[in-house]
Amino acid sequence: MSTPLPFGHAVRDLWPLEPGAIYLNHGTLGVTPRAVLAAQAALNEQIEAHPARFMFHELKPRLRAAADRAASLFGGRGQDYVFTDNATAGVNAVLRSFELGPGDELLITSQTYGAVQNAARYACRQSGAELVSVDLPFPIADADDIVAALESTLGPRTKLVILDHITSDTALVLPLDRLIARCQAAGAKVLVDGAHVPGQIAIDIPDLGADWYVGNLHKWHFAPRGCGILWAAEAEQAATHPAVISWRLDEGFDAEFDWTGTRNPTPFLCFPAAADVMDELGAEAVRGYNRDLVRAAADHFAQRFGGPTAPDEMTGAMTLAPLPDDLPATSAAALALRGHLLDQHNIEVSIVPWQDRLWARIAAQVYCELDDFKALADAVASADARNATGGLA
Ligand SMILES: Cc1ncc(COP(=O)(O)O)c(C=O)c1O
Repeated sequence: MSTPLPFGHAVRDLWPLEPGAIYLNHGTLGVTPRAVLAAQAALNEQIEAHPARFMFHELKPRLRAAADRAASLFGGRGQDYVFTDNATAGVNAVLRSFELGPGDELLITSQTYGAVQNAARYACRQSGAELVSVDLPFPIADADDIVAALESTLGPRTKLVILDHITSDTALVLPLDRLIARCQAAGAKVLVDGAHVPGQIAIDIPDLGADWYVGNLHKWHFAPRGCGILWAAEAEQAATHPAVISWRLDEGFDAEFDWTGTRNPTPFLCFPAAADVMDELGAEAVRGYNRDLVRAAADHFAQRFGGPTAPDEMTGAMTLAPLPDDLPATSAAALALRGHLLDQHNIEVSIVPWQDRLWARIAAQVYCELDDFKALADAVASADARNATGGLA
């Protein structure tokens, strides 16, 4: 694949990445562009020039303007969006607000993010509801297998389903429209965990038809860390409260979330600056470059080490790439290999044990090139990588 300018290493200086670092994990921790960090520093100065005027008079209209910008990109109206510190906070807000009781079921999947599984477990523990997990197949050849797996687990007691839009460990774009339709036909409400979605794939959130949607803007949409969004369908807004209750209880969805106690609002207020960076790069061009690059990288690993890759229609800017199948497929080996790659090669990438094999969850961002992924493949093929994981499987 040739690198279309201006992406690749030519644009790397837009981010304050350490020289020499090979950063293939924009999925876990996105890198904030220099322009956004500068906007945040200027905003901090502005707030400190008169904190009371800013926090009590200027904050609210600015938050609403930032929410309007989110709506212009992700669909619907600004009033349907609120900011949260992160996706975890959005999930907790919905779980705390949703009334579950003994006899009810809360459905998650075997690929639900661990922290979200814990929040669901806690909601069930507090309410007496039952936590049910549907096993999602992986590797996967066809999205229909996922729809069938979910359908076989839905029942009359299922009250709420948490669905990933892009799964964390396996990086699969799930067939959400079909999954949501099945859940709602069975009488269940749907909370979508779209932590990885804004900036990675195109979305129209209201069009999906879910009841709630949480996302992160600090992963793929270039916002400073601490910037999540929660969208709620109009019918759910009055009963959806933040995980931290503060002054505005029962005054309405955005009133409650726009003030959850004193905190630093700059990650939220810098979302428009982050969206400007995305606009300048071209959102469609960013998504296209990242998708093509991660696809080419995964094919390189599959040719070199053997093993499957995800279907194209289920791949965004992240995917699992198979590693040599003689490496031990344990969490300890995955951690050891990740540490070794960082310490010895300055390569940051997530390593995942899944179905009797280790995989690299590779993430492409426009500052990456195919050679960065080839360097990872060389590093995992070397004898010292094998030693780091404790030898052969
Ligand atoms: C699917 C999924 N949900 C939720 C989260 C949590 O995101 P945060 O730590 O920003 O709350 C992550 C983080 O990687 C994730 O992958």
